Amino acid sequence: MPLGMLNLFIEFETNQNSQMKKTVLLFASFLIIAAAWADEGMWLPMLLKNNFEQMQKLGLKLTVKQLYDVNHSSLKDAIVWFNGGCTSEIISGQGLLLTNHHCGYEAIAKHSTTADNILDNGFWAKSLDEEKVNTNMWASVLVRMEDVSDRVNKALDSIDVKNRDAEKLKLFKAIGMEAVMNTHYEASVKSFFRDNAYYLFVFEKFTDIRLVATPPQSIGKFGGETDNWMWPRHTADFSMFRIYADKDNNPAPYSKENVPYKPKKFLNISIKGVNEGDYTMIYGFPGRTNRYESSFGIKSAVEKINPAIVALREVRLTEWKKEMDKNDSVRLLLSSNYAKISNYWKYYIGQTEQLKRLKVYEERKDQEQQFIEWAKNKPEYASIIPNLEKAYINYNVYALHAAYIKEGILGSSLISAAIKYFSLEEALSLEKPDAADIKKTADALKTLGEEFYKSFNAVSEENILAEITQMYNENIALGQQPEYMTMLLKKYKGKTNKETFEKFSKDVFKKSFMVSKELSQQFLEKPDLRKLRKDPAFVYAKAFYTNYMEKIKPNIDAFEDINSSEGSKYMKALMEMQPAKKFYPDANSTLRLTYGNVKAYSPKDGVDYKYYTTLTGTMEKENPKNPSFRVPDKLKELYANKDFGMYAGKNGEMHTDFISNNDITGGNSGSPVLNGNGDLIGVAFDGNWEAMSGDIYFDSKYKRTISCDIRYILFLIDKFGGAQNIINEMTIIKN
Ligand code: ARG
Repeated sequence: MPLGMLNLFIEFETNQNSQMKKTVLLFASFLIIAAAWADEGMWLPMLLKNNFEQMQKLGLKLTVKQLYDVNHSSLKDAIVWFNGGCTSEIISGQGLLLTNHHCGYEAIAKHSTTADNILDNGFWAKSLDEEKVNTNMWASVLVRMEDVSDRVNKALDSIDVKNRDAEKLKLFKAIGMEAVMNTHYEASVKSFFRDNAYYLFVFEKFTDIRLVATPPQSIGKFGGETDNWMWPRHTADFSMFRIYADKDNNPAPYSKENVPYKPKKFLNISIKGVNEGDYTMIYGFPGRTNRYESSFGIKSAVEKINPAIVALREVRLTEWKKEMDKNDSVRLLLSSNYAKISNYWKYYIGQTEQLKRLKVYEERKDQEQQFIEWAKNKPEYASIIPNLEKAYINYNVYALHAAYIKEGILGSSLISAAIKYFSLEEALSLEKPDAADIKKTADALKTLGEEFYKSFNAVSEENILAEITQMYNENIALGQQPEYMTMLLKKYKGKTNKETFEKFSKDVFKKSFMVSKELSQQFLEKPDLRKLRKDPAFVYAKAFYTNYMEKIKPNIDAFEDINSSEGSKYMKALMEMQPAKKFYPDANSTLRLTYGNVKAYSPKDGVDYKYYTTLTGTMEKENPKNPSFRVPDKLKELYANKDFGMYAGKNGEMHTDFISNNDITGGNSGSPVLNGNGDLIGVAFDGNWEAMSGDIYFDSKYKRTISCDIRYILFLIDKFGGAQNIINEMTIIKN
């Protein structure tokens, strides 16, 4: 699929030569940073031995083997990779999974109609047969992991730099296949420390995952986009699913005969309460960090790329919102896409703001200067920083273009659909077209269309296409634009630029068969090459895609080659330079553990934040006029009667959320927060505004994890949802 090749990343910009400072001063600043790194780190569980002493000092009561053991069941067996982007944990002997509401959001929204609106009203299965079946969901339990660095390195040593990436992938695949031979397991090999180490992961992947419970989104997403990425918070960001297996407890596609999965391990739940200073550890699958990013990359993110992503996402958000506000069924259909786009829209605003406020660029610059000093007489390392700088200068010419393709052109649902027709064009234009192949390709598109058109709103998409094309035209260097643009400007010339692009988009939506499910299915019944090649959405997609692949992508690939090979050397050198420091690898969607303590913070001078919030705060934020701050009547009633049962805090309050200084990122969503005994005390769901730069730079003064207190979750299941059946499955540790 050509789309795969359009896999773009955040791009970076050039630097200025920062002032040379005295080495002594620089070195001092490095030491201070290293000392503050106590709670920083997403550690690989099999390497925890080195951290054990510190973990005990902070309050861990378990042994390393109770956390992670290859041969016996350990805590890690209860941690489940959820659908690729999230984490979940098993909390009963019947495969009951707890994760975030925003991780279950898509499934919940799919089950919602205006007649049976579980997104707005919530859902609590009172028995197994009420649980809702999902398609396209999976949950993977880690069977084992293994260091395969020696094998990979040895094999790669003899391979030419040019073919390294391809050879590496082949080798990864071979190692993985060997590892799961004659089993139903799946395996993958992943790179760590920027290609300085490699680990093999073996998983058992389950695909019959059913929805068990969700609060209404007024509770599960309380505070909406206003509160997102912020503390203090009052959200109960949780939902529950269940893993089903066949009668032998093995993974199986959905079947009525399947039964709840019997896990090797499930978590006990402590409702003893959470206090400042308590030990906390979080197990999960953090997605991606860039903690060793160069100053050049940071500068470009702050000045150029992040603002472009934000502006381009705003187009989609504004246009979708207009239609969502007009009509409830449109709102339900678009809300999942809306939530996805807006989450990282706000993320990039926050990341930019905090990188600037915390002067991360300046600090990285100093560190690089110190590195240059150290590497001066080491030929293998001396040119790393200058090489990176040079690579970025070339790259910066094209960086914005890549962002505009990914977040702009492909941000148009119509164009992202049109690109999927490239394979059909290929099949149709063969010298000897193969009817079976054509049918297969067309059928695949039909299937895709079934889902796709459910959340396709032509009114908003017409405006989106007009606006993003105009932005592309106004912000991308003219020499980089496809010739198509010249034709467009001439053919649709209006009095203003805006009018030109509106006329253009209107015409596309009038003429393309891709604007509706009916028209596209009709076309796919009898695919025709000439008709496809005349379709204006297809022509547009082809023009931008070809232009990008031919003129832009080669430059980006060249940059990425240098950035990854120099980056790999840089990582190795940094470890040599600071032999006493414990390094942890960047996040890469593999199982990690982070440990720390429950801890309050001060966001700015004169302000102190508490480490927890209560239902009183929910009531203070209540605003019936704002959909993000509505409180369901039932919850108000429970609050008024202080009907909190055994879930109340010592002072009779209902604790909602709390913060700790654990090191997490996206992908950790839904991760269990465990106390020193390994009992579940909360579910992690967010980071805080003052540390939004966290994926690039960990600031121990500000960085916090926001979690929902497990007592609030149990209270909602029990008192709000009336689902004692779910509570009864759990093992609850009381006072
Ligand atoms: N910021 C959270 C995360 O990325 C997602 C929160 C979802 N809630 C929302 N209002 N969009 O993990």
